[in-house]
Amino acid sequence: MINPMIAANWKMHKTIPEAVAFAKQLKEKFPKPGDVDIVIAPPFTALFPVVEVLKDSPIHVSAQNMHWEEKGAYTGEISAAMLVDAGCEFIIIGHSERRTLFGETGGMLNKKIHAALKSGLKPIFCIGETLEERESGATFRIIQKQIKEGLNNIISDDIRKIALAYEPIWAIGTGKTATPPQAQEVHSFIRKTIATDLEYDRASEIVIIYGGSVNPENTDSLMNQPDINGALVGGAGLDFGSFADIIKISER
Ligand code: 13P
Repeated sequence: MINPMIAANWKMHKTIPEAVAFAKQLKEKFPKPGDVDIVIAPPFTALFPVVEVLKDSPIHVSAQNMHWEEKGAYTGEISAAMLVDAGCEFIIIGHSERRTLFGETGGMLNKKIHAALKSGLKPIFCIGETLEERESGATFRIIQKQIKEGLNNIISDDIRKIALAYEPIWAIGTGKTATPPQAQEVHSFIRKTIATDLEYDRASEIVIIYGGSVNPENTDSLMNQPDINGALVGGAGLDFGSFADIIKISER
């Protein structure tokens, strides 16, 4: 049985005091390991203070981006080793905002995933199609391409450490959620692609979470789908009450 994962991607939101206050509330509300893996992804500046608050807590901390090199003359960049040093356990790689606004390609994301795994970070690898791609019937082709590029040459032993996040771009921040059957169809395809194209024989154990306008109202119907193992929450993950509700609803 896969433990559901509920992750909040805070994007470029929250000051250090705001992030710390949220983490304290979360720690108080979920003090013991439950059957939901809770992850929060603060901006870089708040990572270390949030890790400090969440010591001795089952809540995991993720970064939102990293560079693939270990160190060097890369002004403005942060390496996987630096994130491990700050106490991060997870890393979001390939969010559509990184792909579209910052020009990150499949090849770059593959380098990031290799570097993250080498440093001991667990990647949450995001994939998803645009509205145009969906409407032209290209969804599966795009998803398959993103998986093959991003996970190129990742050994079986490492594939199990990766969670995939299906985030249809047309559903991010738009209030338009994929219907549960629409999301299920793609999640099932992702699992099949991992089994066939990556020749991974334990695809049934891979955590595949959904992202795109998830809120307390639609969580239950999404989580009831057999191949949806959790959520990557944007807007609703900034509000403590909504995020806590999403976690509660996802408990089995
Ligand atoms: P929203 O939940 O705001 O649609 O954002 C989803 C997302 O991009 C999470 O990474």
